[in-house]
Amino acid sequence: MEGRISALAVLCLVLSSVGALKVTIPEPQYEFARGDNITLPCSFKSTLAAPRLVIISWSAEAPTANAKETLILTYYFPSKLTDIKSMYEGRVSLDVSIPTGKANLKLSSITLADNKVFECRVQIPTDDEGTPAATVRLVVLVAPSTPICKTQGKAEYGQNINLTCVSAEGSPTPTYKWDSRDVRNMPRAAPHPRTTDKGGILSLYNITKDTSGIYTCTSRNKIRSATCNISLAVMPPSLTFGSTAIIAVAVSAVVLIALIVIIFCCCRHRKKKREEEEYAMGVPGEEFHDKEPARNGERRQADRDEDTRVDRDPNEERSQRGYDSRKDNDEPHSDYDDRRSEYDDRRSDYDDRRSDYNDRRSDYSDRRDRNSDRNERHDDERSYNERRDRRNDDDDRYDEPHDDRPPVPNNKPLRRDYDD
Ligand SMILES: *[C@@H]1O[C@H](CO)[C@@H](O)[C@H](O)[C@H]1NC(C)=O
Ligand SMILES: *[C@@H]1O[C@H](CO)[C@@H](O)[C@H](O)[C@H]1NC(C)=O
Ligand SMILES: *[C@@H]1O[C@H](CO)[C@@H](O)[C@H](O)[C@H]1NC(C)=O
Ligand SMILES: *[C@@H]1O[C@H](CO)[C@@H](O)[C@H](O)[C@H]1NC(C)=O
Repeated sequence: MEGRISALAVLCLVLSSVGALKVTIPEPQYEFARGDNITLPCSFKSTLAAPRLVIISWSAEAPTANAKETLILTYYFPSKLTDIKSMYEGRVSLDVSIPTGKANLKLSSITLADNKVFECRVQIPTDDEGTPAATVRLVVLVAPSTPICKTQGKAEYGQNINLTCVSAEGSPTPTYKWDSRDVRNMPRAAPHPRTTDKGGILSLYNITKDTSGIYTCTSRNKIRSATCNISLAVMPPSLTFGSTAIIAVAVSAVVLIALIVIIFCCCRHRKKKREEEEYAMGVPGEEFHDKEPARNGERRQADRDEDTRVDRDPNEERSQRGYDSRKDNDEPHSDYDDRRSEYDDRRSDYDDRRSDYNDRRSDYSDRRDRNSDRNERHDDERSYNERRDRRNDDDDRYDEPHDDRPPVPNNKPLRRDYDD
């Protein structure tokens, strides 16, 4: 009976030894992008249903030959202590479960320095047969940085141009692809007949107006992609020259217009100045043209009367004085007022005035007698007497009554007619 039990125990021991400890990692290599938070999976299977002591450790070594292995952390069961090496402090942790055999390594914010071979090792006393460790390759990738799109060459009809596209970063090295849309932002039915797309350079040969549009470059590696756009407007070569010519013509036109304006202003200014000078020099005033010459002269003479009496011919003065005295007589006075009111339509009243003159001439003969008395009252009595003496000497000239009529301006042609 006792021998049977020990035989079963030996059998069980043998059977469990056949199973042994087994540490596994599902994939030989994992790829993650730089900056990602990642988990490297590791599982183990022990022959012991409930091992009393388990030690789990993760280490890393560069994938180069003779690289030194670096311990990352060590976990102790059942104390559940985790010993993390200083250079990984803060960015690693262990996702562990002894009953289910889980020992995953968690790494946050991985960098290109994490491009290493990682090893997961499990130590269980009395269960050290089998496969106690497994390794995994971590490939840290860098997403392509946003590419820069540029054009090389002149975007003119018939030219050959290149469109370039480069991402500054990318691991593995990105590949580039160009797509284009026409000017209406529709995908092209057929790509440009002659293009090459190599290393991010799209070469377009003998380009035409139809080559214009939006070109999009996609920079891609195994983890991510990024794009840039470039707008291509192909112009006829003549347009560049044409626009230059248009600008030149426009500038010339502006200069010409400015010159014309300046000359015009100068001429106007000079003309105005000349007119002012002519006016000051007393060119025949237009205001006199449609006035009756005799009337006009008569009025001007009356205005001048007070200022220029001394310089005037004595006969003229005396006659003028006699003419002025007429205002005191009733009949000539009213006659005079009428004439003043008739100034506006002088031309039509000309015939009437001719008759006025005839009347006045007859009045004048009567007034001559009265003038003699009135003139004696005048200040300049002496000159008057001299004048009278002189007149008596020239009797034949002053004999006629009409010679004593008021002076007539030189430009009054009708005076002679009244003499008859
Ligand atoms: C990674 O984990 C850190 C905290 O450990 C967090 O701040 C960061 O946002 C995470 N990054 C990503 C990409 O999830
Ligand atoms: C376009 O690229 C090709 C190949 O890189 C080069 O030979 C050619 O000179 C480039 N053309 C222009 C206009 O830059
Ligand atoms: C360019 O294209 C035009 C028509 O679009 C053609 O007449 C000309 O021969 C081409 N030139 C070259 C160098 O291919
Ligand atoms: C490029 O253009 C497309 C549509 O024309 C747009 O969806 C995309 O966001 C643009 N990309 C960039 C980087 O501007």
